[in-house]
Amino acid sequence: VSVAALYHLKGGVGKTTAAVNLAYLAAAAGRRVLLWDLDPQGAASYCLRTRPRVRRAARKLVRGKLRIAELVRSTEHHGLELLPADFSARYLDLFLGERKDPKGRFVRLLAGLGEVYDRVLLDCPPGISLLSENVFRAARVLVVPLIPTVLSLESYRQVERHLARKHLDTRLLPFFSMADRRRGLHRQVLAEWPGAAPVVVPYASEVEQMALRRLPLPCFAGGCPAARAYRALEAALEAALADRGG
Ligand SMILES: Nc1ncnc2c1ncn2[C@@H]1O[C@H](COP(=O)(O)OP(=O)(O)O)[C@@H](O)[C@H]1O
Ligand SMILES: [Mg+2]
Repeated sequence: VSVAALYHLKGGVGKTTAAVNLAYLAAAAGRRVLLWDLDPQGAASYCLRTRPRVRRAARKLVRGKLRIAELVRSTEHHGLELLPADFSARYLDLFLGERKDPKGRFVRLLAGLGEVYDRVLLDCPPGISLLSENVFRAARVLVVPLIPTVLSLESYRQVERHLARKHLDTRLLPFFSMADRRRGLHRQVLAEWPGAAPVVVPYASEVEQMALRRLPLPCFAGGCPAARAYRALEAALEAALADRGG
């Protein structure tokens, strides 16, 4: 199964928003998609109107008491299933630390899902932890939202250096999030980005409304520029996953 993660060191940069939209778009294109909400705050689960059925699910999963299939819930969107966040996810690092192979647990948990899903998307909490080490090993592509500021390139480089140091060959797919081209600084950061131009998701009130409406953006504003940007990001993710062999 091809696994991708929405990941960054920073919070509030647009990971969950992108995770919900990318998962929805892949499902709408006919793929069988599982979105795993790893953030105990459960913003992705909220947006998809789905709550966990099992208490302490994250703990039971990591300890091997339950399997992913037993925790997954369907959403109101065809082809999109969700592993909702539960509050025990705030201790994921502790549960992972109990394991013999604390960094490889997710690889094992996700193995075998290829028969059920075409794609798994992980919506990560911010930070760099044992949980992220698991994500780096399980995901072929890390989708990284960057708000175009002076420090965004630097924090992106930090992630890049960490992966290189650990000899992890996860591919990075950065994109700009909440970009405001009216601001000179934003324009400058976008213009000076080295390498291929990343997808730019504009700052937009439609995107903010996702949490109010509890719907993916394409469900209520499919024609707006931000929705177009998420479609471009989905295409870029598709290409990056294909490039990495699946
Ligand atoms: N392109 C955008 N335009 C306007 N608001 C956005 C945009 N992307 C995200 N937001 C808002 O920013 C906040 C943080 O986004 P979120 O996806 O939850 O970030 P993260 O998961 O990285 O913490 C949310 O309130 C969200 O609605
Ligand atoms: Mg989030």
